[in-house]
Amino acid sequence: MQQPQQKSVGKKEVTLTINGRKENLSILPWVSLLDLLRDHLDLTGTKKGCDHGQCGACTVLCDGKRILSCLTLAVMKNGSEITSIEGIAEVELHPIQQAFIDHDAFQCGYCTPGQICSAIGMLQEGKANSRAEVQELMSGNLCRCGANIGIIDAIMQVKDGGSYEQL
Ligand code: FES
Ligand code: FES
Repeated sequence: MQQPQQKSVGKKEVTLTINGRKENLSILPWVSLLDLLRDHLDLTGTKKGCDHGQCGACTVLCDGKRILSCLTLAVMKNGSEITSIEGIAEVELHPIQQAFIDHDAFQCGYCTPGQICSAIGMLQEGKANSRAEVQELMSGNLCRCGANIGIIDAIMQVKDGGSYEQL
C-alpha cells in the first residue's frame, strides 16, 4: 500500500545576536532556544533541567529580559539579542557572579547559570524592594542543593550595593 506523502517542513532563516555576536542560522521551526544554544552553538552553560518551564535552569536574557529558553522557540526570537551565562562577563566577573562566590551560593552549580541570568533580569525589572520580594521574584529558579539562602544573600549584596550592570 502506498504510504501517504509526508509534507516536509523546511528550515527557517533566523538572525540572532548571541553574546554580542551576530549569528545567521538555518533551523527547524520547532527547535527551542535552549537546544539551539546547547546543541547547535555549543553554548552549554545554559542548563536543561526539566525542559518544561518548571525549574528555571535554562534562563537566559532576551533583549535584557529573563526568559525560559526551554519554552521559547528560537524562530520566535528572530532579530533579538540573547545573553547566556557565557556572555554575562567578559574579563572580570559580573558583580552577581562575584556575590555568588562570596556567599557560597551554589553546590553542584547546575542551577547557577539560570540563577545568575534570572537575578540580573530580576534586578533590571526593578520590582523587588525587599528581601521577601527578591525571594518571591526568584521563586521560578529552583535549587535542588538547597543553596537558596546563599543565593538570596548574594542578590541582596548586589541589590543593596546597586552594583549590577545593565545588559
Ligand atoms: Fe527550562 Fe526547566 S529547563 S524551566
Ligand atoms: Fe545544585 Fe543549585 S547548586 S541545584
